[in-house]
Formats: sequence, C-alpha cells, structure tokens
Amino acid sequence: MSQEDTLIETPESVSNDRFVEVSYDDAIPNNVDLSSDRQLLKALESWHPGYLDWWKDMGPDGFQEADVYLRTAVGVDPAGWAKFGYVKMPEYRWGILLAPKVEGRTIPCGRHKGEPVWQEVPGEYRSLLRRLIVIQADTEPASVEQQRYLGKTAPSLYDMRNLFQVNVEEGRHLWAMVYLLVKYFGKDGREEAQALLERRSGQQDNPRILGAFNERTPDWLSFFMFTYFTDRDGKMQLAALAESGFDPLSRSCRFMLTEEAHHLFVGETGVGRTVEATCAAMQKAGITDPYDTEAIRKLGVVDLPLLQRKANFHMSVTRDLFGSEISSNAADAFSAGLKGRFNEANLKDDHQLQDDTYPVMRAVDGHIVTEDVPALRAINSRLLDDYIADCQGGIDRWNKTIEKFGIDFRFAQPHKGFNRRIGEFAGHRISPDGRLLTEAEWQAGQGEWLPNDADNAFIHSLMQPCHRPGEYASWIAPPRMGINQQPVDYEYVKID
Ligand SMILES: [Fe+2]
Ligand SMILES: [Fe+2]
Repeated sequence: MSQEDTLIETPESVSNDRFVEVSYDDAIPNNVDLSSDRQLLKALESWHPGYLDWWKDMGPDGFQEADVYLRTAVGVDPAGWAKFGYVKMPEYRWGILLAPKVEGRTIPCGRHKGEPVWQEVPGEYRSLLRRLIVIQADTEPASVEQQRYLGKTAPSLYDMRNLFQVNVEEGRHLWAMVYLLVKYFGKDGREEAQALLERRSGQQDNPRILGAFNERTPDWLSFFMFTYFTDRDGKMQLAALAESGFDPLSRSCRFMLTEEAHHLFVGETGVGRTVEATCAAMQKAGITDPYDTEAIRKLGVVDLPLLQRKANFHMSVTRDLFGSEISSNAADAFSAGLKGRFNEANLKDDHQLQDDTYPVMRAVDGHIVTEDVPALRAINSRLLDDYIADCQGGIDRWNKTIEKFGIDFRFAQPHKGFNRRIGEFAGHRISPDGRLLTEAEWQAGQGEWLPNDADNAFIHSLMQPCHRPGEYASWIAPPRMGINQQPVDYEYVKID
C-alpha cells in the first residue's frame, strides 16, 4: 500500500474543524470570490440544474437517496482541506476550489518561458487552450457514467463508499473545468459546458471524446484496475496541466491532484486486497500452482493470471489516452506554454527543447526500434514513459504480497506496443513480451493475454452484493483500516 496515498485518509491530515476559505452559504462553494462576479455566478447557476439532471440520470444508479459517508473539500489548506459526514449524493457540495496563487510564478516552459504567467487567456492560444480544457473536462463525467451500475454489486459498504467518493469528486472536477470554460471563454465556453452534459460514455452518436472513457466498467475488478491505471493517466495529465502558463488552469489542476490521490489509493488497495484474498485462499487450500485456475476459482477468489489479463487490458487502453507518441499538437501546447511535462520544474534542461532529442520506440519495417526524435515532437511519448514508470510502484507492492505467501507468480507490465490502437504501434500485433506477431499468432494468443469469455463469466459470477456493515465478498480482503479512522465494519453507506 502506498504510504503517500494512505496519508490522505489519516486523521492527522484531515481535521474536521477547519473551515477557512470556503463559504458554504453560497449555492456553489468556492474560493474564487464567485459572489463578486455576477455574470459568472449567473452562468454557473444556470448550468447547475442541468448538471443535477445529468447526475440523477447518469450518476450512481439506485443509491441517490442513500446517506453516504463522504469527504467534502472545504478548503485548499493541505493541513485540513476536507470534512467527513453523511450526505445524500445529489446534495453533495460540488465546489470550485483553486490551489493558492503562487506569487511571482512564471511560465515554466516553451517560448514564453520566464514571462509572468497569464491570468487571462492569451488570445493567440485561445482555441488550443479551450481544446485542452474540454478534453480534460470530458473525462470527468465519463468515468461516473462508466461506473454507474457498480453500487449494486459492491463487495462491501466500505468499497461502495469509496466508489461514490470517487464519483462525486469526478463530478467536482467537472465543475472545476466548467468554471474555467464559463469564466474565461465566453459564449463558446458556455456551449462547451453544455456539451459536456450531453455526451455519454459509450453512446454511438454522441460518445465521450477519448476511447478508454467509452469502454465499459462492468465489474469491480474493472473499477479497481480503472482507478489504478486510468485515474493515473488523469494524474499525469493534471500534473502536466498544473505546469500551464495559464495560471487559473494550473491552480485548478493542482487542487484536483489532491483528490486524485484517493482515487489511485482506491485502485491500488482494491487490487491489492484482491491479490491478498486469492493468496490467502490458495494457502489455506494448500494450492501452490497459480495456474491451477479451476481449483482456485472454486475457492471464490480470482486467479492471479486473470488479474494479469485484466491489468493488461486496462494498461493498454490507458496508454492510448496519451495520444500519438510523436505529435505536433503536443509540441504546440508545450511551446505555447499551455501544458508542461511531468515534473517540469525538476527537469534539468532548458525547458524549451529546440535542439533536444528524445528516444521514441517505434515499429519500423517489421522491427521494434528506438529512434531519437526531436524532443518537442516527443512530448506525449515522454509523458507516456513517465506514466509507465509511475504505474510500477503499485505493481511491485502487489508482487510483494504474492512473494510473502511464497507463490511463484509476478505481475508485469506488458510491452508498450501491446494491444495499442493509437500511436506508433497502432495496426501492429505485439505480444506482452514485445514480439511483433502475425495476425494468426495474435488470434491464437490473445485469450492468454486479455480477459477471455470464460474469465468475464467467472468475474460476473463473483459480483454478488455484500451490503451489510462489516461484510466483505470472498474475493476481496477487508482493508487494514477504515476511512477517516472509522472501523472497517462502519456503516459507510446507509441504504434506505
Ligand atoms: Fe478527475
Ligand atoms: Fe479520478
């Protein structure tokens, strides 16, 4: 379990009695002095009912009236930014919170490097900036839509509560982006804000913008893999946008990253607890071979090779979210100073990259090669590499658990080119260990590498609700500790 992520839920970092910057008397809690901008306030107030309709239509199905023990952001002070309490989700206080302004902040990268950051939209980059914000914004409601049926099969009230926490915070992230659109982009911004409520994940005629956000999240293993791997794409994108020279975007994203840490924690511990339940059940039954799947599944737990296949799927579709590895749009956004790299400030180069190169892996003439490419055009490739490195920590911790039980199995990340639809490897068939395959070889192997029909049917059979306090499904171990110092058998969700 990541210490960093666990910290978010400890009482030391969350105190209940600090209500500093945010006034909850306002219809829309905020620390952006909304009440002084009548026009903006009016625009947001007129967007609000449509948002609530969207939430009721597309938010968690069947639990709108339940009292959920939720964290609500009440400020941006790292020492005490949230409070916990029972809330019905439609009454959640979705607010607009920006990280504090850094005095004297300058544009960290690109051709304007060193100039003061922009507080207003730079006219020449207006449409590029709007596009970046809309793409980020679109992912937020999309994941809520993808996860809307999961409450019914929650493996415990603790997990159900975590699902709903992630959902309401993705809703808040939508608010954060809509604030930027409405405040800074006038009529176009209002139209974009409306369109965000109209697109639907997986819908043929008006889908969400990015592929992975149109996939289904049909079961809890998918949810945990999604929050570990796909919310981590969110983390990387937010980190890159936090480097933006457009200061309101930077400040918005910096605060969103605080909430994102919990989403990653839910994913990491969700998969980790699944691994733990599997290993413990195998040990108890005296099974040492991780590939003895028939016997293992009879124990009501998920075999480790199936978890690897699930992970392979989520890793590969999430890698596609980074876009083409070599991209002139990404170069433009970086050079304009609208989006930086991961950890931009700590990188030891000139932050302009006019003369630099970056090694990019590509499939050329039937071989996988690494070629030096102008660094500016390889911005996406670099962010993808940073993402892949960032994924490894949790995987190592899952492997530690398996090792502790003495089971001979290790999770691994598939090759970068495995199962890709976008970028350098699109159109190629590549095995998890990085071999270029013929179509026939791919067809023969894919059931070993990606969840197959039998896997999906088995997972489906496990998804039985455990909705009594302290009850946990067979396939997942209880957490080591509860939320906000509450016990693991706390009534995290009060269903009617
Ligand atoms: Fe988000
Ligand atoms: Fe998230």
